[in-house]
Amino acid sequence: MFTVENQASGNNFQVEAGETILDGAINNAIGFPYGCQNGFCGKCKATLIQGEVEYKNGTPPGLSVEEITDNMILPCKCSAKTDLLIAVAELKSLADIEIKTLPCKVEKIERLNHDVAKVVLKIPGSEALQYLAGQYVDLIHPDFEPRAFSIANAPHNTSIIELHVRLISGGKFTNFVFNEMQEKSLLKIEGPKGSFYLREDSEKPIIMVAGGTGFGPVKAMIEHAIETNSNRQIHLYWGARTEQDLYMDLPKKWADTYANISFIPVLSSADNQWQGRTGYVHNAVLEDFKNLVDYEVYACGPPAMVSSAANTFVKIGMFEDNFYNDSFDFAYQTEQL
Ligand SMILES: Cc1cc2nc3c(=O)[nH]c(=O)nc-3n(C[C@H](O)[C@H](O)[C@H](O)COP(=O)(O)OP(=O)(O)OC[C@H]3O[C@@H](n4cnc5c(N)ncnc54)[C@H](O)[C@@H]3O)c2cc1C
Ligand code: FES
Repeated sequence: MFTVENQASGNNFQVEAGETILDGAINNAIGFPYGCQNGFCGKCKATLIQGEVEYKNGTPPGLSVEEITDNMILPCKCSAKTDLLIAVAELKSLADIEIKTLPCKVEKIERLNHDVAKVVLKIPGSEALQYLAGQYVDLIHPDFEPRAFSIANAPHNTSIIELHVRLISGGKFTNFVFNEMQEKSLLKIEGPKGSFYLREDSEKPIIMVAGGTGFGPVKAMIEHAIETNSNRQIHLYWGARTEQDLYMDLPKKWADTYANISFIPVLSSADNQWQGRTGYVHNAVLEDFKNLVDYEVYACGPPAMVSSAANTFVKIGMFEDNFYNDSFDFAYQTEQL
């Protein structure tokens, strides 16, 4: 085991002997830049300040002779022989992230309830999609206009993309997903997109408001916060019509396991068996918080829910700059513009 310290950010992490520096960074949820992961593109370039690295199959083509002389290394291909001090600019914001079009294979389609499916996509070969937790991709299929779906897993295994797809009655693409799309079939994704992502440079407590499959990107953010050992307080409100629309029991497990995470499910059409909160999810937040001056709010799901949250939360002190959202407008609307 060796320690790798990045002088540029102050972050450090452990790598196994033989493990690439980039894999070590990814496994520790540290946002090193990369592209091909194969020693060609040079996007992962870092400067070696102290220590020694080795390349299993010789120095890769992504480094010029001058760069080698200047102590540049390619973390995607080299492993540590000693503890290392390196310098590399980590990804911190949208501006650092490249939007790509990538082929992907449908690895798995799993029904989570009557109208939500978990679709797992695998990006083949050495390609990967770098994204920030909370962003979305456009799914591209030759028979349809592109359709937006949020990435529901944290960016720690970036060759796997999990989506939570809700079936839209009469919806062309989502009906295709539920009724025709086969595992192992091929699609393309374009992304990552959107500015709905977890702001990690803040210490403010967070209120997350998810409606239906708006839980997907919120799941990615919370998984990322857990992976990075964040102690920020997270109050997760998940609104749905009925109990079966709360299609995963993960939030309860998070709340049982982590002292900084609380979970409040809220049903708008609950049956008599339901013991929990009822009504619209943004109203539950208003009942629980009299002042939102000190909070960041992340809201995601149906447009009506997102706008109700925005309009009412500012009245109890929420700063507009502290409100981040993805409104699940449907492609139909944008095609009409
Ligand atoms: C940034 C972003 C992220 C998104 N992430 C997700 C996600 O993670 N999971 C998810 O399930 N959805 C998500 N959506 C919504 C999703 O993109 C649409 O539901 C999808 O485009 C519907 O495609 P379709 O071809 O089945 O329906 P279409 O054929 O485009 O629409 C058919 C009709 O159904 C209605 N309709 C379509 N979509 C919706 C909708 N969402 N709600 C209510 N009525 C609708 C409209 O009246 C439309 O005319 C997201 C949208 C955006 C903009
Ligand atoms: S990621 Fe392309 S050279 Fe390292």
